[in-house]
Amino acid sequence: MNIQLETQPLSGAEADAVVIVGFESEPPASPCGDQIKELYDSGEFTGKALEVAVLHRPAGLKAKRLVLAGGGKREKFTSAELRKVSGAVLRALKGKGVRSIVLSLDPAFRSGDFASAAVEGALLADFEADRYKTDPKKNEKQVDAFAILGATQAALDHGRLIAESQNFTRTLANEPANLLTPTLLADRAKAMAEEQGLECEILYQDRMRQLGMGALLGVAQGSAEPPALIIVRYQPAAEPATKDHLGLIGKGVTFDTGGVSIKPAEGMEKMRYDMAGGAAVLGAMRAIARLKPAIPVTAFVPAVENMVGSRAQRPGDIVTTLAGKTVEVLNTDAEGRLILIDTLTYAQRLGCTHLVDAATLTGAVVIALGSVNVGAFTNNEPFLNKLMSAAQAEGEKIWQLPLDDEYKEQLKSSFADLPNIGGRPAGSITAAMFLRDFVGETPWIHLDIAGTAWLDDAKPYLAKGASGVGVRTFVKLAQSW
Ligand code: BES
Ligand code: MN
Ligand code: ZN
Repeated sequence: MNIQLETQPLSGAEADAVVIVGFESEPPASPCGDQIKELYDSGEFTGKALEVAVLHRPAGLKAKRLVLAGGGKREKFTSAELRKVSGAVLRALKGKGVRSIVLSLDPAFRSGDFASAAVEGALLADFEADRYKTDPKKNEKQVDAFAILGATQAALDHGRLIAESQNFTRTLANEPANLLTPTLLADRAKAMAEEQGLECEILYQDRMRQLGMGALLGVAQGSAEPPALIIVRYQPAAEPATKDHLGLIGKGVTFDTGGVSIKPAEGMEKMRYDMAGGAAVLGAMRAIARLKPAIPVTAFVPAVENMVGSRAQRPGDIVTTLAGKTVEVLNTDAEGRLILIDTLTYAQRLGCTHLVDAATLTGAVVIALGSVNVGAFTNNEPFLNKLMSAAQAEGEKIWQLPLDDEYKEQLKSSFADLPNIGGRPAGSITAAMFLRDFVGETPWIHLDIAGTAWLDDAKPYLAKGASGVGVRTFVKLAQSW
């Protein structure tokens, strides 16, 4: 789909559909104002968020259709709302013979943030997880051109970069595990890094053994597929003004069977998205490479497959972590935290001063926050506040959960320094407490994206499957440093 700048006024725009946003009880002005008013008066269109109504052969317009898109209450309209509205319009019109769309921005909402969000909404909505469908007709019903009226080229370019990076993440997270092993994920990261002019280094099993990454290797040992620790670096051209160095760590379990503590069969196929955190930090690096923020950023993705087999780690096994502490593996299905601790230690050794990890870490966060909010944890409130404002600006919802010392009671092992599980109560918190033990005083944020990285059902503005959550927040965080 082409993204273009519309230079004609609304009445002269030539397209299969021109779209204007209509707010609640506020028929928008346009050359076909009477027809629009009739839609409002009849109650066919009320302006509620994400509503879509179509007028054919609108009076005074060159376009074949005028589409009214509900914006909700004007006072509550934000770029995050526009992102969804733009997406809902694209998905409503796609496949209905509409091949060209012009979206006219309301004069009150024409800043770069709005224009960029409109483009993002359309490109994110256009994305389908259909690369393994062989139907040759699948591409017939496409929108070819999406133009924005009232934007700048720079805003459109920005929106395209962000959306394409988020879609890169979604493509990775949707991949079946047979086609995206740890080695293949490393290959995809290398190819992306090369394309974007980033440095990429992969640590393989031998190097992990030399270093002593016993927790990561313990998880990996059950699979015939060898692990890979993917490292992608962005370095600003000019000498940075601060010593700060942002580390983005993403869980990269390409498939999580649970290991010997095996998961139930139902829904297990979804565990291919257990590398969504890793995919998110790689997608963010793709955009960061081009936006060139002032701060160095390094992404780390421990990629492993958590399998069952004669070489798999057993419940009760004790592993020695890179940090030197020992962990009793009471449940092999709590593998994410095991691969993350060695990676967090390594990121600190490489000089990262600020750490953010994203991981599909616990089922418990799905119970706590559902698919609406990402669960956030930190040892440094100002750092989390910074990330939360980046998230809010980007329309990604995050909710902080606590890390009180009292929860430590649940992390006692009789035979090693720590157990890898803390029992059923507060499962997401004890998982985060376990990670915290390995970051010390370094400012750190843990994002549990188990509930938000995957949509079980399509939304009006997004296809079913991987959501690409995290990408926009990470990019904004780096840019606003
Ligand atoms: N990858 C899962 C968490 C998960 C669950 C992600 C549902 C997405 C949807 C993680 O490795 C896991 O299995 N966690 C266990 C931890 C438990 C054994 C303490 C869980 O949440 O059940
Ligand atoms: Mn697991
Ligand atoms: Zn997992």
